[in-house]
Amino acid sequence: MATDPFQLFDEWYAEAQTAEINDPDAIALATAGAAGQPSVRMVLLKGHGPDGFVFYTNRESRKGDDLAANPHAALLFHWKALRRQVRIEGVIEPVSDAAADAYFATRSRDSQLGAWASDQSRPLDSRATFDARYEQAKARFEGRDVPRPPHWGGYQLVPDRIEFWSDRPHRLHERRLFTRSSDGWAEGLLYP
Ligand SMILES: Cc1cc2nc3c(=O)[nH]c(=O)nc-3n(C[C@H](O)[C@H](O)[C@H](O)COP(=O)(O)O)c2cc1C
Repeated sequence: MATDPFQLFDEWYAEAQTAEINDPDAIALATAGAAGQPSVRMVLLKGHGPDGFVFYTNRESRKGDDLAANPHAALLFHWKALRRQVRIEGVIEPVSDAAADAYFATRSRDSQLGAWASDQSRPLDSRATFDARYEQAKARFEGRDVPRPPHWGGYQLVPDRIEFWSDRPHRLHERRLFTRSSDGWAEGLLYP
C-alpha cells in the first residue's frame, strides 16, 4: 500500500494552486522554544520535495529563536476550497546561504529593503520608526543591488510524519498517515 508521500503532496498542491482563491502556499508553522511554550504563525512555502519543505524568514524573529532552541517543528496546510489538510512534522535545518541568496535575489526590491528595515518580532514604538528605517535602507543601497541581510534566511523542515486529511460526508473523514522509518516511508490509516 506504501505510496510516495511527496508524489501525493505534489498532486494535492497542484490542485490547491487552481482551487484556492489566494495563498495555496500558506502554511501554519508551529514551533516551541526551550520552555516548551507552543507558538504558531503563517509562512509561505517556497520550495518542497523529498528533502523537505522550505520557507524564509528573519532568523532573529520569535520563530527563529524557538528553532534555535528546539529544531522540532510542525507545518499545516489547510486548503479550504478542497476541504483538505496536510499535517507535517519533523526537524528543521537551515537552508544554505547560497540558496537563501538566490531566493532573496528574486524578491522585489521593496521586499528586500523591508527585510533590512524590519526587526521582526521586536517591539516597535511607532510606524514612523519603521518607515524611517525603510527610508534609511533605501538610501543605503541606492544605485546597487540589495544584498541579503545576514539575519534573513531559509529553513527546511525535513519530515518524518506526513498526514493527508480529506473531508468525507458525515465526518467520516479519511486520514492517510505516512511515517518515515529506516526502510523508507510506511503508510497507514487513522480513525477520523
Ligand atoms: C499568509 C501569510 C504568509 C506569511 N508568510 C510569511 C513568511 O513567509 N515569512 C515570514 O517571516 N513571515 C510571514 N508571515 C508573517 C508571519 O505570520 C509572522 O507575523 C512573522 O513571521 C513573525 O512571526 P514570529 O514573531 O512568530 O517569528 C506571513 C503571514 C501571513 C498571514
